[in-house]
Amino acid sequence: MKPQQVREWVRAARRIVVLSGAGMSAESGVPTFRDAQTGLWAKFRPEELATEEAFRARPQMVWDWYAARRESLAKVEPNAGHHAIAAFQQRHPGRLTVVTQNVDGLHQRAGSPGVLALHGSILEDRWLEAPRPCCAGAEPLPGRPPRCGVCGNLRRPAVVWFGEMLPARELAAAEDAAAACDLMLVVGTSGVVYPAAGLARATQGRVVIVNPQASELDDAADAVLRGTAAALLPELLED
Ligand code: OAD
Repeated sequence: MKPQQVREWVRAARRIVVLSGAGMSAESGVPTFRDAQTGLWAKFRPEELATEEAFRARPQMVWDWYAARRESLAKVEPNAGHHAIAAFQQRHPGRLTVVTQNVDGLHQRAGSPGVLALHGSILEDRWLEAPRPCCAGAEPLPGRPPRCGVCGNLRRPAVVWFGEMLPARELAAAEDAAAACDLMLVVGTSGVVYPAAGLARATQGRVVIVNPQASELDDAADAVLRGTAAALLPELLED
């Protein structure tokens, strides 16, 4: 399948969903989960580190890892793929919905409105336990992680960890968008993590994969484009 054919599908589509994963941000310099060769991801599988259990067992290590990622995100910028999506949305209000598994905020920084962030945001944190009045009433004590000075409740990254529920409002809106779209561009995801990957299997619309490598969703696709997000999306989404 040629990109030009997919561009025709984009032009004809009334409602489009972009379902993005870590590969969307690779050309911004953000390492993907499963490609990362260095750091903690190399020592621990994501399933071993990004869990509430891991945080409770080693809060400082998990906090520090997220803090380092947060710091490195401050130094990166959205790439041509993020910008092409946001520009399309600005030219065609209401026609394209971004559903992302990424917690890096780069779609939002590129100017995409209404991003459905299924896995939360690494730029924010929240209380580990449901906050008591003491937690909400005062600034958390600085630390790694910060904690409530009264009850000891810990701050944790506001991301969805393995085994946790996705935010209900975002997931419902993503399911609605997937059901209503006639074209879904699945960009930079290995397609192994559900329920996000299930959106590509549930849609009645055409499914196009944008990924330089094979993914678990290739069998659900009407077209597979072997290329990168920053190289292909500007071409696919130009008018
Ligand atoms: P992965 O790291 O599993 O997959 C990244 C995908 O991006 C791979 O299929 C790569 O081939 C592809 N890729 C790499 N560079 C690319 C580029 N420049 N353009 C396009 N594609 C490229 O990331 P996700 O599929 O996002 O979950 O992982 C899904 C979820 O698992 C994450 O959201 C996270 C993770 O553990 C949670 O934290 C809950």
